[in-house]
Amino acid sequence: MGGLFISFEGIDGAGKSTHIEGLAQAFRAQGRAVTLTREPGGTALAEKLRIMVLNDAMDAMTEALLVFAARRDHLQQRIEPALARGDVVLCDRFTDATFAYQGGGRGFDLQMLLILEQWVQTVQELGADFIRQPDLTVWFDLPAEIAAQRLTGARVPDKFEAQPLEFFRRVSDGYLNRMLACPSRFARIDADNTRDAVWRDVLQAVQARGWLA
Ligand code: TYD
Repeated sequence: MGGLFISFEGIDGAGKSTHIEGLAQAFRAQGRAVTLTREPGGTALAEKLRIMVLNDAMDAMTEALLVFAARRDHLQQRIEPALARGDVVLCDRFTDATFAYQGGGRGFDLQMLLILEQWVQTVQELGADFIRQPDLTVWFDLPAEIAAQRLTGARVPDKFEAQPLEFFRRVSDGYLNRMLACPSRFARIDADNTRDAVWRDVLQAVQARGWLA
């Protein structure tokens, strides 16, 4: 069976973590090997970059370059080998997060992000170059107000979680624009729902593509 690459997106507080874990179990139950990973992160080097990105003050370009540097290492060291083995790769955030947070939230130049995306995600398969993208992106869509309520008091906020509501509205718009640019890649899930209802929708999105029975 060929590899499968699924990313999970949404603003902080949208509640993706438990569902990523649930999907990993569902795939394993059907005999698939699963690589569970996240961005920024997923390799020793990328996890070091994550700590900087989430904690240190920096300008938007530096932030964008660091998340793409982490992504390059992650793709080369972890994602591509896993896909070549035929794994299901479940990735908590990928490039859409950069367009949403650095592009939408911080207002960084989208054209430059598109160029970085092309450079960083160019991989070789059977001697030909192509740009790696997830086969499916599950977007947990939740109004910024509700996400903020959910996050209140949950834990010490990192640099992004501490941002004002208006930042997360722009992040949400960033996700929406990415979906509109490539609708077939996305499953938009209404995350303002019970956990069971959200899980049902996540499962349905994967089943509809014939990847889970
Ligand atoms: P998150 O995925 O929410 O992990 P946790 O649940 O452990 O906090 O944290 C990652 C943060 O990094 C999140 O606030 C979004 C941000 N981020 C970017 O700003 N750009 C990116 O390209 C990525 C992948 C994440």
